[in-house]
Amino acid sequence: MLAGQRIVLGVTGGIAAYKAVEVCRRLVDAGAHVVPVMTAGAEHFLGRTTLSALASEPVQTSLWDEASPIPHTRLGQSADLIVVAPATARLLAAYAAGLSTDLLTNTLLATRAPVVVCPAMHTEMWEHPAVQANIATLRSRGVHIVEPESGRLAGGDVGAGRLAAPEAIVAAIEAVLATAAIEQGQLAGVHVVVSAGGTREPIDAVRVIANRSSGKQGYAIAAEAAARGAQVTLVSTVELPTPAGVAVRTVETAAQMQAELTQLAPTADVVVMAAAVADFRPVLAAEGKIKKDQGVPQIVLEATPDILAGLGAAKPAGQVLVGFAAETSDLLANATAKLQRKRLDLVVANDVSAPGVGFQHDTNAVTLLRADGTVQVVALTDKRAVAAAVLDTVVEIRAHAARPDHTNDTVNPTS
Ligand code: PMT
Repeated sequence: MLAGQRIVLGVTGGIAAYKAVEVCRRLVDAGAHVVPVMTAGAEHFLGRTTLSALASEPVQTSLWDEASPIPHTRLGQSADLIVVAPATARLLAAYAAGLSTDLLTNTLLATRAPVVVCPAMHTEMWEHPAVQANIATLRSRGVHIVEPESGRLAGGDVGAGRLAAPEAIVAAIEAVLATAAIEQGQLAGVHVVVSAGGTREPIDAVRVIANRSSGKQGYAIAAEAAARGAQVTLVSTVELPTPAGVAVRTVETAAQMQAELTQLAPTADVVVMAAAVADFRPVLAAEGKIKKDQGVPQIVLEATPDILAGLGAAKPAGQVLVGFAAETSDLLANATAKLQRKRLDLVVANDVSAPGVGFQHDTNAVTLLRADGTVQVVALTDKRAVAAAVLDTVVEIRAHAARPDHTNDTVNPTS
């Protein structure tokens, strides 16, 4: 996540400024391009030489550098992320008030990149209503706060206000970058596997047990995912026009579909099972064509493997697994049971007995049921719009999973 990212590291004047050196080193080691900016206060605690030596560029401190007449706009516009560690009460106040007092505050005002602020100060200062109000203001504007820890502070005091550990700060930066990429709708670098169409289970050399799935819904999902930049592999039983950027693997039976998906799923970031897999298949398919004069054949059926349940049981960490539920009654109850039994993150429930819904139509109407209980109804619309709604939800699930939970972390002035 950090490789190639341009990160402005702001350092303000607190005793914890020395920890910024470790944050810088970890970011550079992870492949980030780190641009350090120090305030005048920071220079009381940390020499420029140390940070310049470890960062990707020399430290900058001034708005009035003749080599770059508008350094703050250049820094703010080119940053993928700005982190301020440590952030003093003064920095928080200036940033919350929109004051441009130095290079760092100017840069913070001149950016649209995500900003991570890591406060560090004495407990009394941290708990002061003015500081907390500034934190609340910054949070309401989307600034990510890595809260201070409790621990020993400068002067031997103990309490809340110690700067979060460098590894926690770097983890927060990674999570914010991941969330930003996902929230921008970027599926670039994300491998999405989609299944489409109905399986055909042979009775003999010419006859099959099939279903009415046309594959349209699965193809629409594959096309939408590719349009969002994903690497898409479509496992399909039908031959519709291949959407741009989609790799298709053609199969016929449930067993063949299972073999392809079992191979693809372990490395997929998202799996969407839109195919209508036969639930039953003949135990034995006759080699040739069964002749009419042999009498009506007695076809013995067996259950097919539940591919989706297998994928749910073996789901790798971080993968988003989406199933469909094609129902003709008790839509939500049946879909919820499938969501839970197959260990899905999302089930797309369609009442295929309703007009214009499900099999073969160009339209669909679905209810999206998430594992966290969130429910979204998508009224009758074209299948591409349903695909967009499904992928929006997948993006949300991925963003939620990537979101940092640093509410108990801390910061501060010493240590
Ligand atoms: O293809 P279209 O004509 O565009 O129609 C779209 C659709 C109706 C096929 C699609 O919207 C849909 O509902 N797909 C799922 C159909 C289905 O098999 O539903 P189900 O409720 O029987 O199965 C639940 C889930 O388990 C599905 O994700 C299915 O792919 C999966 N499954 C089912 C049986 C099985 N043996 N293995 C599975 O993986």
